[in-house]
Amino acid sequence: MLERIRAEVAAAGGWIPFARYMELALQAYYGRSDRQFGARGDFVTAPELGSLFGRTLANQIKQVPFRKVLELGAGSGALAETLLKELDGEYWILETSAALRARQAARLGNRVKFLDALPAAFRGVVIANEVVDALPVHLVRWQDGGVYERGIAFSDKPVWQDRPARGAVLAEAAAIEVPVPYESEIGLAARAWMRTLAERLEEGAIFVIDYGFSRAEYYHPQRAMGTLMCHTRHRAHGDPLVQPGEQDITAHVDFSALAAAAREAGLDVLGYATQAQFLVNCGITDVLAQANVENALHYAPIAAEAQRLLSPAEMGELFKVLALGRGVKQPLAGFSHGDRSHTL
Ligand SMILES: C[S@@+](CC[C@H](N)C(=O)[O-])C[C@H]1O[C@@H](n2cnc3c(N)ncnc32)[C@H](O)[C@@H]1O
Repeated sequence: MLERIRAEVAAAGGWIPFARYMELALQAYYGRSDRQFGARGDFVTAPELGSLFGRTLANQIKQVPFRKVLELGAGSGALAETLLKELDGEYWILETSAALRARQAARLGNRVKFLDALPAAFRGVVIANEVVDALPVHLVRWQDGGVYERGIAFSDKPVWQDRPARGAVLAEAAAIEVPVPYESEIGLAARAWMRTLAERLEEGAIFVIDYGFSRAEYYHPQRAMGTLMCHTRHRAHGDPLVQPGEQDITAHVDFSALAAAAREAGLDVLGYATQAQFLVNCGITDVLAQANVENALHYAPIAAEAQRLLSPAEMGELFKVLALGRGVKQPLAGFSHGDRSHTL
C-alpha cells in the first residue's frame, strides 16, 4: 500500500489531493472481506445489529409501487438478507469491492443479481446505507491568507502538505462561509455520485441513510476541525495517515449537497428525517411488538437493538434518511412526522 501511494505521489509530481489518498486507502481497506463489519470488526452498521432496521425499512419500501431494489455497497449482505425475507421482486446489488461481493454472493446465493456498474436506466428503489460516508472527500483549510487544499506528499511515509486550492475545490470552498481558521471536507465525489444516480433513475425512489447534517450544521462555526474520522476495532481517531488500507476512513455526509445535486438532475426531495423519526414513522414499535416479550433471552437483544437505532445518544439523531424520487406521487410514510426537508 505504501509503495502504491509513493508511486502515485511521484507520478503526480510530488503531491496528490487527500481525496485521491482516501480513495486508494479505502480501495485497499474494502478490498479485503475479513474484518470490517460487526462486533469483532472495526465498526457496526444498523443492519449488522440485527433484523429490526431492515424489517422496518421494508415497511417503507412496500409502500412504493416498485418491485425492484438496487442496493449500493451491501457490506456483509446483512440488509439484503433481511429485505429478501420481507419483499418480493428482484434484488440487485452494486458493490465495488470484489472481496465483499464474493462474501455477499456466498451469503445470499442466486436470489440476488450482481451488477458491475450502474444500469443506464433504472426503475425501482435504490438503497445506500453507510455508503456515501465512504466516498472520498477533499480536505480544505480556510485561513487568513486564503483557501488551501490539504494533500499528501511522500518522504518515507505519507505526510501532509497543503497547497492553495484551485478549480472545483476552490469554487465550492469560496461559496461556504466559515470563520477562519477552519478545516472541513468537501464531498465532490458524493455530488457526482448522486448526479449519476439521479440521471439513471427513470422512475422510483432513492434512500440515502448515513451520519451527517444539512449544510448549516455541517459547516457550523463550532465544527472547525471538520468531520473526518478513522475507525479501527471500534476505536475512532482522527489520523488517516497511519496504516493506510488497514483502517476505515469516513466523513459525515453533507445532505444539502446531495439534495442539490439530485434536484439539479430533476429529482424531487421526498423527505429528510432523523433515523429515529424515520423508523418510528415506519412502524418500528410494531415490528418490536412482534418479539416475544415474555422471553427475556429473546427480547433483551431486540430491545437493545432498538435502543441503538433510536437513542439520540447513539444512531437516532446523527443518522439521517434522505429520500429522493422521480414520479413518486404519494407521500412517504417514513416522513409523515418530523420531516426536515426545509433545513436542506
Ligand atoms: C461502511 S460499508 C456499509 C455496508 C452496508 N451497507 C452496511 O450498512 O452494513 C460501505 C460499503 O460500500 C461499498 N462501497 C464503497 N464505495 C462504493 C461505491 N462507489 N459504490 C458501491 N459501493 C461502494 C464498500 O465496499 C462497502 O460494502
